Amino acid sequence: MAGAAGDLGFRIAQALLTRGARVRALVRPGNHKPAVTALQDLGAEVIEVDFNSVTALTKACAGAACVVSALSGLRDVIVDGQKRLLAAAVAAGVPRFIPSDYSIDYTKLPNGSNRNLDLRREFNQRLDQAPIQATSILNGMFTNLLTGQAPVVLFGLKRVLYYGDADQLLDFTTIANTAEFTAAAALDPSTPRYLRVAGEVATVRGLQRAANEATGEPFKLLRVGGLWVLGTLIKVTKTLMPASDDVFPPWQGMQYLHNMFTGLPKLTPLDNARYPTIRWTPVREVLATKK
Ligand SMILES: NC(=O)c1ccc[n+]([C@@H]2O[C@H](COP(=O)([O-])OP(=O)(O)OC[C@H]3O[C@@H](n4cnc5c(N)ncnc54)[C@H](OP(=O)(O)O)[C@@H]3O)[C@@H](O)[C@H]2O)c1
Repeated sequence: MAGAAGDLGFRIAQALLTRGARVRALVRPGNHKPAVTALQDLGAEVIEVDFNSVTALTKACAGAACVVSALSGLRDVIVDGQKRLLAAAVAAGVPRFIPSDYSIDYTKLPNGSNRNLDLRREFNQRLDQAPIQATSILNGMFTNLLTGQAPVVLFGLKRVLYYGDADQLLDFTTIANTAEFTAAAALDPSTPRYLRVAGEVATVRGLQRAANEATGEPFKLLRVGGLWVLGTLIKVTKTLMPASDDVFPPWQGMQYLHNMFTGLPKLTPLDNARYPTIRWTPVREVLATKK
């Protein structure tokens, strides 16, 4: 596992260990995050490795049945870093590779519509050419973002904000469910190229109902405008914000929402039933955790 000390990666490692797998967590030298100690306590083998060295990564991948990436970053990580990890997995004879995708269906989006997803599409083109069995996990938006970063359910104003069509279907999956499913997929030797899951498929009206039920208070819909309004806001925000290495600047989240509201990256068909022991957490339950 690469990125095992990260938010999603730690949970994937946890879920793998719960399923009885042996986990080797590759971390950067000098990573002393509490997650690293926690991984060791849970029974993972933690190896410090130079992610810039294919030779070092190849040694670290030796004997693995599957390399799982939950790395997060921009081009240097998602394209360049994962290419090195892929080269190492192939050199070590690892049969399977799960890239750090965990997103809406970027295969259906045009280039230029979402910077972070363009990088995933680019890396996956390389992955498709490699002599290894690849499986990408697509899970829509992390439901957990609805109680924080994603400006959709506005708890203070009691509004559900949206652009375009209130009946557009949208995919949401919690971080925990995404991790459980990824762990199950990592241990399943017969996975297809793409697996698509959604803890809940909801329209904006569905989010409104979930917010009403979760809080016991009535939420109203707030339509800011058509998708072109959001498109313009993204352009303005990008122009006003100084260039930075931030993986998730505000306009990135706006691009993600814009993509979702177009309906293009809607996940279909869904593979939720593939691992029947997973209990999918509904949006309402996540919204109810908001204090
Ligand atoms: N669908 C959604 O709504 C959604 C939302 C958020 C994230 N995601 C996706 O989920 C995946 C994991 O994200 P996350 O939130 O778990 O990220 P995170 O908590 O920031 O963890 C990222 C991991 O990547 C490692 N890493 C970063 N740069 C590295 C480098 N240059 N070399 C080696 N390791 C490096 C970090 O290592 P250290 O431990 O050393 O820092 C960390 O373990 C990403 O693909 C992300 O895009 C999806």
